[in-house]
Amino acid sequence: MTGIEELLLSRIRDVADYPEPGVMFKDITPLLADPAAFTALTDALAAIAASTGATKVVGLEARGFILGAPVAVRAGLGFIPVRKAGKLPGATLSQAYDLEYGSAEIEVHAEDLSADDRILIVDDVLATGGTAEASIELIRRAGAEVAGLAVLMELGFLSGRARLEPALQGAPLEALLVV
Ligand code: PRP
Ligand code: MG
Repeated sequence: MTGIEELLLSRIRDVADYPEPGVMFKDITPLLADPAAFTALTDALAAIAASTGATKVVGLEARGFILGAPVAVRAGLGFIPVRKAGKLPGATLSQAYDLEYGSAEIEVHAEDLSADDRILIVDDVLATGGTAEASIELIRRAGAEVAGLAVLMELGFLSGRARLEPALQGAPLEALLVV
C-alpha cells in the first residue's frame, strides 16, 4: 500500500450497522476534518482531472460536492453540480435510476454542459454503480463527453466497476482505494 493510500484509509471510519443492520458504513468525515488528508485527496483527484484532459468537474450530491468542488478549484476547472431532483431552478435534464428499494432521480442544468466539454465525474464511493451510471447517462444526454469517473473508494465486492464498463465506453474509472 502506498503512503497516500495508508493516509486516506486511516482517516475513513467503519461504522457497523449503519444506516441499517448488516451494512458497514464508510464514514469520510474524519478524512475531511484532517487538512493533510483532505489536501492529499484533493491533489490526487486533481491529478486525475489533469491526466484525463477534463474541461469540467461534475460532483454528485451530496458527498461528491464536498470532494469535487476543491478538485475543480485545484485543477483550474469549473464545477457542475448534479443534484437530487427538485433542487435546480433552471432548465434541467433528469435521469431516474433504481435503488435497492425504490428509485431516485438526479438532475443537471442543461446549459452547464456542451459538446465541447469533457467531464470528470467525482464521487466519494462507488458501490453498486447505480448513481454513477445515471450521471454518465445524464452527461451524454446533455451532449458532453465523459472523460472519466474518479472516486475516493470503490467497494469491490459490489461489482460496480463491471456494471459501469459499458457505460464508460473506455473512459477510465479511477479509485484511490479499493476496499
Ligand atoms: C452514496 C455515495 C455514492 C452512492 C454510491 O450516496 O455517496 O454517491 O451512494 O452508491 P451506488 O454506487 O450504489 O449508487 P447517497 O445518495 O446514499 O448519499 P449522499 O447524498 O450522502 O452522497
Ligand atoms: Mg452520494
